[in-house]
Amino acid sequence: MEDADIIWEESMSVSFDDVTVDPEIIQNMKRVITLSVVNGIDNSYGLLAKKNLRGALLYGPPGTGKTHLAQAVARDSQANMIAINPSAILAPHVGDSEALIKALFSLATKLSPCVIFVDEADSLFRRRKSSDKSWERSLINEFLQQIEEIHTKKDDAPFILLATNRPADIDDGIL
Ligand SMILES: Nc1ncnc2c1ncn2[C@@H]1O[C@H](COP(=O)(O)OP(=O)(O)OP(=O)(O)O)[C@@H](O)[C@H]1O
Ligand SMILES: [Mg+2]
Repeated sequence: MEDADIIWEESMSVSFDDVTVDPEIIQNMKRVITLSVVNGIDNSYGLLAKKNLRGALLYGPPGTGKTHLAQAVARDSQANMIAINPSAILAPHVGDSEALIKALFSLATKLSPCVIFVDEADSLFRRRKSSDKSWERSLINEFLQQIEEIHTKKDDAPFILLATNRPADIDDGIL
């Protein structure tokens, strides 16, 4: 992932207090991340299992603070964050994208508690069509497979945070 930023510099200056949003959203964001990855609470049964608390999608019109909020999560939540630049994952060589996604989840597990943040998620997870080339579908499939493993597996699995202003363009499987 040579293009991915190791340190997301903008995030270091943004805190939850800087985001103008319904305080309940911030509360929920903190609670969901704390419950599912920081405390490593068993979410295989009860309310947490029903809600499948392993990820969240921030969606809304451009310029409403989705990226801003994610930056605050990076700084103010107790979890580590890996912010993914979609162009770094859309590797030019067939098969590379899947390898990168495997590496991403492996790294995130090692950095537990960890949040994987995918901004502009519609560009990475565009709705699959039967006309797509197989490598375009396999990227989404690989991601879904990794998420599937998260659900069946251990507490050190990452939390997946996505942001988009085009939720309708995101693949159903991912949603
Ligand atoms: N809710 C908000 N609270 C505080 N600042 C905000 C808010 N929304 C937008 N801003 C300001 O506007 C800038 C742009 O917002 P941001 O990049 O977070 O929007 P976005 O929702 O990610 O938009 P896009 O869908 O185009 O990616 C931020 O850097 C911030 O300075
Ligand atoms: Mg944004």
